[in-house]
Amino acid sequence: MVQITPAHPGTAATGLLGVVLLARHGDRLEFFQDPLTLNPTQSFLTPLGSVQEQQLGGFLKDTYLNPASDFFIEGISTDLANINQLIVRADAGGGGSVILDSVQGLLQGLYPPTTDNNITLANGTTVIAPLGGYQYIPVESVEPNLDISLNSFTSCPNLDAHIATFFNSSGFLAEAAIAAPFLQQVEPLLVNRSNDFTNMFNIFDFINVQMVHNATFLALLPPTFGAQAYGFANFHENGIFTDTTIEGIGQIAIQTILPSIFTDLLSITNTSGPLKLALNEISYKPFISLFNVTQATAADPQIAGIVDYASVVALEVSLPPGTDTPLVTMKFKNGSTDPEFHTLSLFGTRGGIPITDFINALAPAAINNTQEWCTACNQTTLRGCSVFQ
Ligand SMILES: *[C@@H]1O[C@H](CO)[C@@H](O)[C@H](O)[C@H]1NC(C)=O
Ligand SMILES: *[C@@H]1O[C@H](CO)[C@@H](O)[C@H](O)[C@H]1NC(C)=O
Ligand SMILES: *[C@@H]1O[C@H](CO)[C@@H](O)[C@H](O)[C@H]1NC(C)=O
Ligand SMILES: *[C@@H]1O[C@H](CO)[C@@H](O)[C@H](O)[C@H]1NC(C)=O
Ligand SMILES: *[C@@H]1O[C@H](CO)[C@@H](O)[C@H](O)[C@H]1NC(C)=O
Ligand SMILES: *[C@@H]1O[C@H](CO)[C@@H](O)[C@H](O)[C@H]1NC(C)=O
Ligand SMILES: *[C@@H]1O[C@H](CO)[C@@H](O)[C@H](O)[C@H]1NC(C)=O
Ligand SMILES: *[C@@H]1O[C@H](CO)[C@@H](O)[C@H](O)[C@H]1NC(C)=O
Ligand SMILES: *[C@@H]1O[C@H](CO)[C@@H](O)[C@H](O)[C@H]1NC(C)=O
Ligand SMILES: *[C@@H]1O[C@H](CO)[C@@H](O)[C@H](O)[C@H]1NC(C)=O
Repeated sequence: MVQITPAHPGTAATGLLGVVLLARHGDRLEFFQDPLTLNPTQSFLTPLGSVQEQQLGGFLKDTYLNPASDFFIEGISTDLANINQLIVRADAGGGGSVILDSVQGLLQGLYPPTTDNNITLANGTTVIAPLGGYQYIPVESVEPNLDISLNSFTSCPNLDAHIATFFNSSGFLAEAAIAAPFLQQVEPLLVNRSNDFTNMFNIFDFINVQMVHNATFLALLPPTFGAQAYGFANFHENGIFTDTTIEGIGQIAIQTILPSIFTDLLSITNTSGPLKLALNEISYKPFISLFNVTQATAADPQIAGIVDYASVVALEVSLPPGTDTPLVTMKFKNGSTDPEFHTLSLFGTRGGIPITDFINALAPAAINNTQEWCTACNQTTLRGCSVFQ
Protein backbone atom coordinates (compact mmCIF):
# COMPACT_ATOMS: atom_id res chain seq x y z
CA MET A 1 0.00 0.00 0.00
CA VAL A 2 1.27 3.45 -0.83
CA GLN A 3 2.04 5.61 2.16
CA ILE A 4 0.97 9.09 1.15
CA THR A 5 -0.42 11.84 3.30
CA PRO A 6 -4.19 11.29 3.35
CA ALA A 7 -6.36 13.83 1.62
CA HIS A 8 -7.03 16.59 4.11
CA PRO A 9 -10.76 16.61 4.69
CA GLY A 10 -11.80 20.18 4.19
CA THR A 11 -9.33 21.16 1.47
CA ALA A 12 -12.31 21.25 -0.85
CA ALA A 13 -15.07 20.73 1.68
CA THR A 14 -17.13 23.35 -0.04
CA GLY A 15 -16.94 24.92 -3.42
CA LEU A 16 -16.16 21.81 -5.45
CA LEU A 17 -17.15 22.68 -9.01
CA GLY A 18 -16.21 19.47 -10.74
CA VAL A 19 -13.48 16.96 -11.48
CA VAL A 20 -11.36 15.68 -14.35
CA LEU A 21 -10.62 11.97 -13.90
CA LEU A 22 -8.01 9.66 -15.40
CA ALA A 23 -8.81 6.02 -14.69
CA ARG A 24 -6.89 2.84 -15.55
CA HIS A 25 -8.66 -0.25 -16.89
CA GLY A 26 -9.34 -3.25 -14.66
CA ASP A 27 -7.88 -6.77 -14.43
CA ARG A 28 -7.27 -8.32 -17.84
CA LEU A 29 -5.54 -11.28 -19.44
CA GLU A 30 -1.93 -11.12 -20.58
CA PHE A 31 -1.02 -8.03 -22.60
CA PHE A 32 2.10 -8.31 -24.75
CA GLN A 33 3.61 -5.18 -26.25
CA ASP A 34 6.69 -5.06 -28.44
CA PRO A 35 9.54 -3.83 -26.21
CA LEU A 36 10.88 -1.43 -28.85
CA THR A 37 7.71 -0.11 -30.54
CA LEU A 38 4.99 -0.83 -27.91
CA ASN A 39 2.84 -2.39 -30.65
CA PRO A 40 0.15 -4.20 -28.66
CA THR A 41 -1.55 -7.56 -28.94
CA GLN A 42 -5.13 -8.37 -28.07
CA SER A 43 -6.18 -8.78 -24.44
CA PHE A 44 -9.51 -9.17 -22.63
CA LEU A 45 -11.06 -7.61 -19.56
CA THR A 46 -11.98 -10.27 -16.99
CA PRO A 47 -15.07 -10.36 -14.76
CA LEU A 48 -12.73 -9.36 -11.92
CA GLY A 49 -11.70 -6.34 -13.98
CA SER A 50 -15.33 -5.33 -14.46
CA VAL A 51 -15.93 -5.64 -10.71
CA GLN A 52 -12.88 -3.49 -9.94
CA GLU A 53 -14.13 -0.80 -12.29
CA GLN A 54 -17.64 -0.93 -10.89
CA GLN A 55 -16.20 -0.58 -7.37
CA LEU A 56 -14.17 2.41 -8.55
CA GLY A 57 -17.34 3.94 -9.97
CA GLY A 58 -19.07 3.35 -6.64
CA PHE A 59 -16.19 5.01 -4.79
CA LEU A 60 -16.41 8.03 -7.10
CA LYS A 61 -20.18 8.15 -6.62
CA ASP A 62 -19.74 8.13 -2.82
CA THR A 63 -17.11 10.86 -3.08
CA TYR A 64 -18.57 13.22 -5.66
CA LEU A 65 -22.28 12.47 -6.11
CA ASN A 66 -23.34 12.11 -2.48
CA PRO A 67 -24.68 15.40 -1.05
CA ALA A 68 -23.44 14.29 2.40
CA SER A 69 -19.84 13.95 1.16
CA ASP A 70 -17.27 16.68 1.87
CA PHE A 71 -16.45 16.49 -1.82
CA PHE A 72 -19.92 16.64 -3.29
CA ILE A 73 -19.88 18.43 -6.64
CA GLU A 74 -22.32 21.31 -6.40
CA GLY A 75 -25.25 20.91 -8.76
CA ILE A 76 -24.30 17.51 -10.19
CA SER A 77 -27.13 15.11 -10.86
CA THR A 78 -26.84 12.46 -8.15
CA ASP A 79 -28.82 9.40 -9.25
CA LEU A 80 -30.15 10.01 -12.73
CA ALA A 81 -27.26 10.96 -15.00
CA ASN A 82 -27.51 14.28 -16.80
CA ILE A 83 -25.35 13.58 -19.82
CA ASN A 84 -24.75 17.29 -20.42
CA GLN A 85 -22.76 17.36 -17.18
CA LEU A 86 -20.49 14.51 -18.29
CA ILE A 87 -17.72 13.93 -20.81
CA VAL A 88 -16.54 10.32 -21.06
CA ARG A 89 -13.71 9.22 -23.33
CA ALA A 90 -11.94 5.88 -23.55
CA ASP A 91 -8.79 4.78 -25.36
CA ALA A 92 -9.94 2.34 -28.05
CA GLY A 93 -6.37 1.22 -28.81
CA GLY A 94 -4.01 -1.13 -27.03
CA GLY A 95 -5.27 -4.63 -26.39
CA GLY A 96 -8.68 -4.62 -28.05
CA SER A 97 -11.67 -3.50 -26.01
CA VAL A 98 -10.13 -3.77 -22.52
CA ILE A 99 -10.31 -0.03 -21.87
CA LEU A 100 -13.69 0.52 -23.54
CA ASP A 101 -15.18 -2.35 -21.53
CA SER A 102 -13.61 -0.97 -18.36
CA VAL A 103 -15.27 2.40 -18.69
CA GLN A 104 -18.65 0.67 -18.91
CA GLY A 105 -17.97 -1.01 -15.57
CA LEU A 106 -16.94 2.29 -13.99
CA LEU A 107 -20.08 4.02 -15.26
CA GLN A 108 -22.24 1.17 -13.92
CA GLY A 109 -20.88 1.99 -10.47
CA LEU A 110 -21.02 5.77 -10.92
CA TYR A 111 -24.60 5.89 -12.16
CA PRO A 112 -26.14 2.51 -11.31
CA PRO A 113 -29.60 1.51 -12.50
CA THR A 114 -32.38 3.56 -10.93
CA THR A 115 -36.16 3.37 -11.21
CA ASP A 116 -35.94 7.14 -11.68
CA ASN A 117 -34.93 6.24 -15.24
CA ASN A 118 -38.60 5.98 -16.29
CA ILE A 119 -41.14 7.66 -18.48
CA THR A 120 -44.89 8.01 -18.19
CA LEU A 121 -46.71 7.45 -21.47
CA ALA A 122 -49.79 9.16 -22.86
CA ASN A 123 -51.90 6.19 -21.82
CA GLY A 124 -50.79 6.58 -18.19
CA THR A 125 -48.39 3.61 -18.04
CA THR A 126 -44.95 4.25 -16.49
CA VAL A 127 -42.12 2.33 -18.12
CA ILE A 128 -38.80 1.83 -16.33
CA ALA A 129 -35.69 1.28 -18.49
CA PRO A 130 -34.37 -2.32 -18.76
CA LEU A 131 -32.35 -4.04 -15.99
CA GLY A 132 -34.01 -2.05 -13.24
CA GLY A 133 -33.43 1.32 -14.86
CA TYR A 134 -30.01 0.84 -16.46
CA GLN A 135 -28.51 4.14 -17.64
CA TYR A 136 -26.74 4.45 -20.99
CA ILE A 137 -24.05 7.10 -20.77
CA PRO A 138 -22.42 8.10 -24.06
CA VAL A 139 -18.75 7.17 -24.29
CA GLU A 140 -16.45 8.63 -26.91
CA SER A 141 -14.38 5.74 -28.23
CA VAL A 142 -11.07 7.41 -29.02
CA GLU A 143 -9.81 5.53 -32.08
CA PRO A 144 -6.03 5.80 -32.39
CA ASN A 145 -6.12 6.21 -36.16
CA LEU A 146 -8.56 9.12 -35.94
CA ASP A 147 -7.46 10.81 -32.72
CA ILE A 148 -3.98 10.50 -31.25
CA SER A 149 -4.88 11.94 -27.83
CA LEU A 150 -5.30 8.91 -25.55
CA ASN A 151 -2.91 6.55 -27.33
CA SER A 152 -0.01 8.65 -28.58
CA PHE A 153 2.84 6.28 -27.77
CA THR A 154 2.56 3.78 -30.65
CA SER A 155 3.72 4.43 -34.23
CA CYS A 156 5.91 7.21 -32.82
CA PRO A 157 9.44 6.84 -34.26
CA ASN A 158 10.96 9.45 -31.94
CA LEU A 159 9.60 7.59 -28.91
CA ASP A 160 11.03 4.37 -30.36
CA ALA A 161 14.40 6.12 -30.60
CA HIS A 162 14.02 7.32 -26.99
CA ILE A 163 13.37 3.72 -25.93
CA ALA A 164 16.38 2.45 -27.85
CA THR A 165 18.57 5.14 -26.26
CA PHE A 166 17.25 4.24 -22.80
CA PHE A 167 17.93 0.53 -23.40
CA ASN A 168 21.49 1.46 -24.28
CA SER A 169 22.05 3.83 -21.35
CA SER A 170 24.49 3.11 -18.53
CA GLY A 171 21.63 3.31 -16.01
CA PHE A 172 19.64 0.70 -17.88
CA LEU A 173 22.62 -1.61 -18.29
CA ALA A 174 23.44 -1.29 -14.57
CA GLU A 175 19.85 -2.17 -13.61
CA ALA A 176 19.89 -5.06 -16.10
CA ALA A 177 22.96 -6.42 -14.32
CA ILE A 178 21.14 -6.20 -10.96
CA ALA A 179 18.12 -7.96 -12.49
CA ALA A 180 20.18 -10.69 -14.19
CA PRO A 181 20.09 -13.30 -11.36
CA PHE A 182 16.33 -12.82 -11.01
CA LEU A 183 15.76 -13.08 -14.76
CA GLN A 184 17.79 -16.30 -14.84
CA GLN A 185 15.79 -17.84 -11.98
CA VAL A 186 12.45 -16.85 -13.45
CA GLU A 187 13.22 -17.98 -16.99
CA PRO A 188 11.82 -21.56 -16.63
CA LEU A 189 8.45 -20.10 -15.61
CA LEU A 190 8.19 -17.79 -18.63
CA VAL A 191 7.24 -20.46 -21.21
CA ASN A 192 9.30 -19.28 -24.16
CA ARG A 193 9.01 -15.59 -23.37
CA SER A 194 12.27 -13.66 -23.62
CA ASN A 195 13.94 -13.10 -20.26
CA ASP A 196 15.96 -10.20 -21.64
CA PHE A 197 15.69 -7.09 -19.44
CA THR A 198 14.37 -5.12 -22.43
CA ASN A 199 11.29 -7.40 -22.19
CA MET A 200 10.75 -6.54 -18.51
CA PHE A 201 7.26 -5.07 -18.87
CA ASN A 202 6.02 -8.25 -20.55
CA ILE A 203 7.77 -10.45 -17.97
CA PHE A 204 6.08 -8.54 -15.14
CA ASP A 205 2.73 -8.58 -16.90
CA PHE A 206 2.90 -12.34 -17.51
CA ILE A 207 3.83 -13.02 -13.86
CA ASN A 208 1.22 -10.63 -12.55
CA VAL A 209 -1.57 -12.10 -14.69
CA GLN A 210 -0.57 -15.67 -13.81
CA MET A 211 -0.43 -14.80 -10.10
CA VAL A 212 -4.04 -13.63 -10.28
CA HIS A 213 -5.42 -16.37 -12.53
CA ASN A 214 -3.31 -19.54 -12.27
CA ALA A 215 -3.31 -21.41 -8.96
CA THR A 216 -0.52 -23.78 -10.08
CA PHE A 217 1.70 -20.87 -11.05
CA LEU A 218 0.96 -19.01 -7.83
CA ALA A 219 1.94 -22.06 -5.78
CA LEU A 220 5.18 -22.52 -7.76
CA LEU A 221 6.30 -18.89 -7.71
CA PRO A 222 8.87 -18.04 -5.02
CA PRO A 223 7.30 -15.48 -2.66
CA THR A 224 9.54 -12.52 -3.56
CA PHE A 225 9.25 -12.89 -7.34
CA GLY A 226 6.05 -10.88 -7.78
CA ALA A 227 7.44 -7.86 -5.99
CA GLN A 228 10.83 -8.18 -7.72
CA ALA A 229 9.21 -8.29 -11.16
CA TYR A 230 7.11 -5.24 -10.27
CA GLY A 231 10.14 -3.28 -9.03
CA PHE A 232 12.18 -3.98 -12.15
CA ALA A 233 9.21 -3.23 -14.43
CA ASN A 234 8.71 0.10 -12.66
CA PHE A 235 12.32 1.07 -13.37
CA HIS A 236 11.82 -0.01 -16.99
CA GLU A 237 8.56 1.84 -17.61
CA ASN A 238 9.72 4.98 -15.78
CA GLY A 239 12.67 5.17 -18.12
CA ILE A 240 10.39 4.90 -21.15
CA PHE A 241 7.54 7.20 -20.06
CA THR A 242 9.48 10.06 -18.50
CA ASP A 243 12.09 12.42 -19.83
CA THR A 244 14.59 14.96 -18.53
CA THR A 245 12.27 17.84 -19.55
CA ILE A 246 8.48 18.10 -19.69
CA GLU A 247 8.73 18.71 -23.46
CA GLY A 248 10.75 15.51 -23.99
CA ILE A 249 9.28 12.75 -26.15
CA GLY A 250 9.28 10.34 -23.18
CA GLN A 251 6.32 12.32 -21.82
CA ILE A 252 4.24 11.81 -24.99
CA ALA A 253 1.60 9.68 -23.24
CA ILE A 254 0.40 12.67 -21.18
CA GLN A 255 1.41 15.47 -23.57
CA THR A 256 -1.47 14.63 -25.92
CA ILE A 257 -4.03 14.45 -23.07
CA LEU A 258 -3.06 17.82 -21.59
CA PRO A 259 -5.11 19.91 -24.07
CA SER A 260 -8.38 18.19 -23.12
CA ILE A 261 -7.45 18.41 -19.43
CA PHE A 262 -6.94 22.18 -19.79
CA THR A 263 -10.19 22.59 -21.74
CA ASP A 264 -12.19 20.49 -19.30
CA LEU A 265 -10.75 22.22 -16.19
CA LEU A 266 -11.65 25.60 -17.67
CA SER A 267 -15.12 24.43 -18.76
CA ILE A 268 -15.79 23.26 -15.21
CA THR A 269 -14.85 26.70 -13.83
CA ASN A 270 -17.56 28.20 -16.05
CA THR A 271 -20.50 27.66 -13.75
CA SER A 272 -22.88 28.91 -16.45
CA GLY A 273 -21.84 25.88 -18.49
CA PRO A 274 -23.00 22.33 -17.79
CA LEU A 275 -19.75 20.35 -17.37
CA LYS A 276 -19.14 18.76 -13.94
CA LEU A 277 -17.23 15.56 -14.56
CA ALA A 278 -14.84 14.56 -17.33
CA LEU A 279 -13.58 10.98 -17.36
CA ASN A 280 -10.70 9.61 -19.42
CA GLU A 281 -10.26 5.82 -19.34
CA ILE A 282 -6.67 4.94 -20.23
CA SER A 283 -3.70 2.59 -19.83
CA TYR A 284 -0.99 2.88 -17.13
CA LYS A 285 1.33 4.91 -19.35
CA PRO A 286 -0.04 8.47 -19.03
CA PHE A 287 -0.03 8.19 -15.22
CA ILE A 288 3.76 7.75 -15.20
CA SER A 289 4.29 10.82 -17.38
CA LEU A 290 1.72 12.89 -15.47
CA PHE A 291 3.39 12.21 -12.12
CA ASN A 292 6.74 13.22 -13.61
CA VAL A 293 5.67 16.42 -15.44
CA THR A 294 3.78 17.69 -12.36
CA GLN A 295 6.75 16.83 -10.10
CA ALA A 296 4.41 14.74 -7.96
CA THR A 297 7.07 12.04 -7.82
CA ALA A 298 9.54 14.47 -6.24
CA ALA A 299 7.36 14.57 -3.11
CA ASP A 300 6.17 10.93 -3.31
CA PRO A 301 8.86 8.89 -5.08
CA GLN A 302 6.95 5.64 -4.52
CA ILE A 303 4.23 6.63 -7.00
CA ALA A 304 6.73 6.52 -9.87
CA GLY A 305 5.65 3.27 -11.42
CA ILE A 306 2.89 1.16 -12.88
CA VAL A 307 -0.32 2.05 -11.07
CA ASP A 308 -2.58 -0.84 -10.10
CA TYR A 309 -5.60 -1.81 -12.18
CA ALA A 310 -8.59 0.53 -11.65
CA SER A 311 -6.40 3.31 -10.29
CA VAL A 312 -7.69 6.84 -10.60
CA VAL A 313 -6.26 10.34 -10.63
CA ALA A 314 -8.67 13.16 -9.85
CA LEU A 315 -8.01 16.78 -10.77
CA GLU A 316 -10.56 18.51 -8.59
CA VAL A 317 -11.68 22.01 -9.46
CA SER A 318 -12.69 24.10 -6.48
CA LEU A 319 -13.53 27.70 -5.76
CA PRO A 320 -12.91 28.24 -2.05
CA PRO A 321 -15.66 30.40 -0.52
CA GLY A 322 -14.83 34.09 -0.58
CA THR A 323 -12.28 33.75 -3.37
CA ASP A 324 -12.42 34.12 -7.11
CA THR A 325 -9.41 31.99 -8.04
CA PRO A 326 -10.35 28.46 -9.07
CA LEU A 327 -7.91 25.87 -7.78
CA VAL A 328 -6.92 22.43 -9.00
CA THR A 329 -6.00 19.67 -6.55
CA MET A 330 -4.54 16.34 -7.71
CA LYS A 331 -5.53 13.17 -5.87
CA PHE A 332 -4.64 9.54 -6.48
CA LYS A 333 -6.19 6.23 -5.49
CA ASN A 334 -3.93 3.30 -6.33
CA GLY A 335 -6.30 0.57 -7.43
CA SER A 336 -8.93 -1.49 -5.67
CA THR A 337 -6.92 -2.31 -2.55
CA ASP A 338 -6.31 1.36 -1.75
CA PRO A 339 -9.40 2.55 0.14
CA GLU A 340 -8.98 6.31 -0.23
CA PHE A 341 -7.70 9.26 -2.18
CA HIS A 342 -4.28 10.71 -1.38
CA THR A 343 -3.56 14.33 -2.17
CA LEU A 344 -0.48 14.54 -4.38
CA SER A 345 1.93 17.39 -4.76
CA LEU A 346 1.69 19.74 -7.77
CA PHE A 347 4.92 21.59 -8.51
CA GLY A 348 5.91 21.36 -4.87
CA THR A 349 2.54 22.24 -3.32
CA ARG A 350 0.52 19.48 -1.69
CA GLY A 351 -2.98 20.85 -2.16
CA GLY A 352 -4.76 23.21 -4.49
CA ILE A 353 -2.91 25.53 -6.86
CA PRO A 354 -4.50 28.10 -9.20
CA ILE A 355 -5.66 26.47 -12.44
CA THR A 356 -3.88 29.18 -14.40
CA ASP A 357 -0.58 28.20 -12.72
CA PHE A 358 -1.23 24.54 -13.55
CA ILE A 359 -1.94 25.35 -17.20
CA ASN A 360 0.94 27.80 -17.55
CA ALA A 361 3.37 25.26 -16.12
CA LEU A 362 2.26 22.45 -18.42
CA ALA A 363 1.21 24.26 -21.63
CA PRO A 364 4.74 24.10 -23.11
CA ALA A 365 4.47 20.29 -22.94
CA ALA A 366 1.06 20.10 -24.59
CA ILE A 367 0.70 18.49 -28.01
CA ASN A 368 -2.47 20.04 -29.29
CA ASN A 369 -3.40 18.22 -32.49
CA THR A 370 -2.44 15.47 -34.89
CA GLN A 371 -0.10 17.68 -36.89
CA GLU A 372 1.92 18.61 -33.78
CA TRP A 373 2.03 14.93 -32.83
CA CYS A 374 3.33 13.96 -36.29
CA THR A 375 6.11 16.51 -35.88
CA ALA A 376 6.92 15.50 -32.30
CA CYS A 377 7.09 11.84 -33.31
CA ASN A 378 8.65 12.31 -36.77
CA GLN A 379 5.78 10.23 -38.13
CA THR A 380 5.10 10.99 -41.80
CA THR A 381 2.63 8.35 -42.97
CA LEU A 382 0.62 6.60 -40.24
CA ARG A 383 -2.12 7.88 -37.89
CA GLY A 384 -3.25 10.59 -40.30
CA CYS A 385 0.18 12.16 -40.73
CA SER A 386 0.46 11.69 -44.50
CA VAL A 387 -1.84 14.67 -45.17
CA PHE A 388 0.70 17.01 -43.60
CA GLN A 389 3.50 16.01 -45.97
C1 LIG B 1 -40.00 7.79 -12.03
O1 LIG B 1 -38.97 8.75 -11.83
C2 LIG B 1 -39.29 9.79 -10.93
C3 LIG B 1 -38.08 10.75 -10.87
O2 LIG B 1 -37.66 11.06 -12.14
C4 LIG B 1 -39.61 9.25 -9.57
O3 LIG B 1 -40.00 10.31 -8.72
C5 LIG B 1 -40.70 8.22 -9.67
O4 LIG B 1 -40.89 7.61 -8.42
C6 LIG B 1 -40.32 7.15 -10.70
N1 LIG B 1 -41.42 6.22 -10.87
C7 LIG B 1 -41.30 4.93 -10.60
C8 LIG B 1 -42.53 4.10 -10.89
O5 LIG B 1 -40.31 4.43 -10.13
C1 LIG C 1 -49.71 1.77 -22.71
O1 LIG C 1 -48.77 1.68 -23.79
C2 LIG C 1 -47.71 0.74 -23.58
C3 LIG C 1 -46.71 0.87 -24.75
O2 LIG C 1 -47.36 0.78 -25.97
C4 LIG C 1 -48.26 -0.64 -23.41
O3 LIG C 1 -47.19 -1.56 -23.15
C5 LIG C 1 -49.22 -0.65 -22.25
O4 LIG C 1 -49.84 -1.94 -22.14
C6 LIG C 1 -50.31 0.40 -22.41
N1 LIG C 1 -51.08 0.45 -21.18
C7 LIG C 1 -52.41 0.44 -21.19
C8 LIG C 1 -53.05 0.54 -19.87
O5 LIG C 1 -53.02 0.35 -22.23
C1 LIG D 1 24.94 2.50 -27.48
O1 LIG D 1 25.96 3.08 -26.69
C2 LIG D 1 27.26 2.98 -27.24
C3 LIG D 1 28.29 3.53 -26.25
O2 LIG D 1 27.71 4.13 -25.15
C4 LIG D 1 27.29 3.73 -28.57
O3 LIG D 1 28.55 3.59 -29.16
C5 LIG D 1 26.22 3.17 -29.49
O4 LIG D 1 26.16 3.93 -30.68
C6 LIG D 1 24.87 3.21 -28.83
N1 LIG D 1 23.87 2.56 -29.67
C7 LIG D 1 22.63 3.04 -29.84
C8 LIG D 1 21.71 2.22 -30.68
O5 LIG D 1 22.27 4.09 -29.34
C1 LIG E 1 8.93 -23.03 -27.34
O1 LIG E 1 9.66 -22.72 -28.51
C2 LIG E 1 10.15 -23.88 -29.18
C3 LIG E 1 11.06 -23.44 -30.31
O2 LIG E 1 10.49 -22.36 -31.00
C4 LIG E 1 8.99 -24.73 -29.64
O3 LIG E 1 9.47 -25.91 -30.26
C5 LIG E 1 8.12 -25.10 -28.45
O4 LIG E 1 6.96 -25.79 -28.86
C6 LIG E 1 7.69 -23.86 -27.67
N1 LIG E 1 7.02 -24.26 -26.45
C7 LIG E 1 5.87 -23.75 -26.06
C8 LIG E 1 5.32 -24.27 -24.78
O5 LIG E 1 5.27 -22.89 -26.71
C1 LIG F 1 -0.42 -22.38 -15.08
O1 LIG F 1 0.88 -22.43 -14.59
C2 LIG F 1 1.50 -23.69 -14.79
C3 LIG F 1 2.87 -23.64 -14.09
O2 LIG F 1 3.66 -22.60 -14.60
C4 LIG F 1 1.63 -23.96 -16.28
O3 LIG F 1 2.19 -25.21 -16.51
C5 LIG F 1 0.25 -23.90 -16.92
O4 LIG F 1 0.36 -24.01 -18.33
C6 LIG F 1 -0.42 -22.59 -16.58
N1 LIG F 1 -1.79 -22.61 -17.07
C7 LIG F 1 -2.25 -21.68 -17.89
C8 LIG F 1 -3.69 -21.81 -18.29
O5 LIG F 1 -1.56 -20.75 -18.31
C1 LIG G 1 11.31 12.83 -14.28
O1 LIG G 1 12.00 11.81 -14.96
C2 LIG G 1 13.39 12.09 -15.18
C3 LIG G 1 13.99 10.91 -15.89
O2 LIG G 1 13.41 10.66 -17.12
C4 LIG G 1 14.10 12.29 -13.87
O3 LIG G 1 15.43 12.68 -14.15
C5 LIG G 1 13.40 13.34 -13.06
O4 LIG G 1 14.00 13.41 -11.79
C6 LIG G 1 11.93 13.02 -12.91
N1 LIG G 1 11.28 14.12 -12.21
C7 LIG G 1 10.70 13.97 -11.04
C8 LIG G 1 10.08 15.17 -10.46
O5 LIG G 1 10.63 12.88 -10.47
C1 LIG H 1 -19.84 29.63 -20.18
O1 LIG H 1 -20.91 28.77 -20.52
C2 LIG H 1 -21.98 29.42 -21.16
C3 LIG H 1 -23.11 28.39 -21.31
O2 LIG H 1 -22.67 27.23 -21.95
C4 LIG H 1 -21.49 29.95 -22.50
O3 LIG H 1 -22.55 30.64 -23.15
C5 LIG H 1 -20.33 30.91 -22.27
O4 LIG H 1 -19.79 31.31 -23.50
C6 LIG H 1 -19.25 30.23 -21.45
N1 LIG H 1 -18.21 31.19 -21.08
C7 LIG H 1 -16.96 31.03 -21.42
C8 LIG H 1 -16.00 32.06 -20.92
O5 LIG H 1 -16.56 30.07 -22.07
C1 LIG I 1 0.11 0.49 -5.69
O1 LIG I 1 -0.27 -0.45 -4.70
C2 LIG I 1 0.45 -1.66 -4.78
C3 LIG I 1 -0.19 -2.63 -3.81
O2 LIG I 1 -1.45 -3.01 -4.30
C4 LIG I 1 1.89 -1.38 -4.44
O3 LIG I 1 2.64 -2.57 -4.54
C5 LIG I 1 2.45 -0.36 -5.41
O4 LIG I 1 3.72 0.04 -5.00
C6 LIG I 1 1.57 0.86 -5.55
N1 LIG I 1 1.99 1.55 -6.76
C7 LIG I 1 2.03 2.85 -6.88
C8 LIG I 1 2.44 3.38 -8.21
O5 LIG I 1 1.74 3.61 -5.98
C1 LIG J 1 0.06 23.69 -27.57
O1 LIG J 1 -0.63 24.82 -27.07
C2 LIG J 1 0.01 25.46 -25.96
C3 LIG J 1 -0.90 26.58 -25.52
O2 LIG J 1 -2.01 26.05 -24.88
C4 LIG J 1 1.36 25.95 -26.35
O3 LIG J 1 2.00 26.51 -25.21
C5 LIG J 1 2.18 24.79 -26.88
O4 LIG J 1 3.41 25.26 -27.32
C6 LIG J 1 1.44 24.11 -28.02
N1 LIG J 1 2.20 22.93 -28.44
C7 LIG J 1 2.89 22.85 -29.56
C8 LIG J 1 3.63 21.57 -29.80
O5 LIG J 1 2.91 23.77 -30.37
C1 LIG K 1 12.69 11.51 -39.42
O1 LIG K 1 12.58 10.22 -39.99
C2 LIG K 1 13.25 10.11 -41.25
C3 LIG K 1 12.96 8.70 -41.74
O2 LIG K 1 11.58 8.51 -41.88
C4 LIG K 1 14.73 10.35 -41.06
O3 LIG K 1 15.36 10.30 -42.32
C5 LIG K 1 14.95 11.71 -40.43
O4 LIG K 1 16.31 11.86 -40.12
C6 LIG K 1 14.14 11.84 -39.16
N1 LIG K 1 14.24 13.20 -38.67
C7 LIG K 1 14.52 13.50 -37.41
C8 LIG K 1 14.57 14.95 -37.06
O5 LIG K 1 14.74 12.63 -36.56
